[in-house]
Amino acid sequence: MSSSKPIGFLDSGIGGISVIRKAVRLLPNEDYFFFSDSVNNPYGDKSDEEIISRCDELADFMVNKKSCKAIVLACNTASAKAVSFLREKYSDTPIIAIEPAYKMVHDYNPDGFTLVMATRGTLESEKFHKLFYTYYNNNTSLLACVGLADLIEQEKKEELKEYLERNLHDYKGKVSNVVLGCTHYPLAKAEIKEVLGDVNFFDGANGVSRQLKRVLTEKDLLNNQKSKFTIEFVDSSETPEQQEQKKKRFFDLLSEE
Ligand code: DGL
Repeated sequence: MSSSKPIGFLDSGIGGISVIRKAVRLLPNEDYFFFSDSVNNPYGDKSDEEIISRCDELADFMVNKKSCKAIVLACNTASAKAVSFLREKYSDTPIIAIEPAYKMVHDYNPDGFTLVMATRGTLESEKFHKLFYTYYNNNTSLLACVGLADLIEQEKKEELKEYLERNLHDYKGKVSNVVLGCTHYPLAKAEIKEVLGDVNFFDGANGVSRQLKRVLTEKDLLNNQKSKFTIEFVDSSETPEQQEQKKKRFFDLLSEE
């Protein structure tokens, strides 16, 4: 059997591009639907109830209006807060959730000093606590990057540089592993490197894409019948001009590393 229904992706904005671009390379025959909820960015400081309720609306839309065969939460904050609720409510639809790649550090460079950068919402979540204490390496700092995803979303380049200089300065020369625990942060790798130098970056995009492939294979939901992918991109910005701008940025970033 083969399924031509789309795979739904959601994020609080453009950050999920860092995930979908990996998925597309691994699964190049699929149709994708990406929802960029930029009108509600940032998710990082919202309450659990607000995030669950918004993710519920988006999942309902993806399952019932877009007939998505699977949903990828391409947002660490949404995953941390809403995945249990969504899996219970939409139990017929596989829901794949990203998480900060702290296990990858454990597997590849467990002795190096590790900095986990993520939203406050992710770091304070029970889901992250479980992950953290399972793989704790006695040599890790957690940094809640309040406002960082927003600067990346808004492309405020100068403010982004100042923010990183101010917040990462103390880690210069000490860090060897940096976990990018928010899907927006891989878009600022170059700027982070400018402050921290040559560090190892870890993010969950490849892992989540492999997990997506595994789940679709197991459930016999892969689309083997075409040779090219399609992506429908929808952004929730207030004006059509802003929506167009996001769309252009999304497709420009799709082919970048
Ligand atoms: N991209 C999101 C994440 O991975 C959320 C950023 C935000 O909206 O605060 O956590």
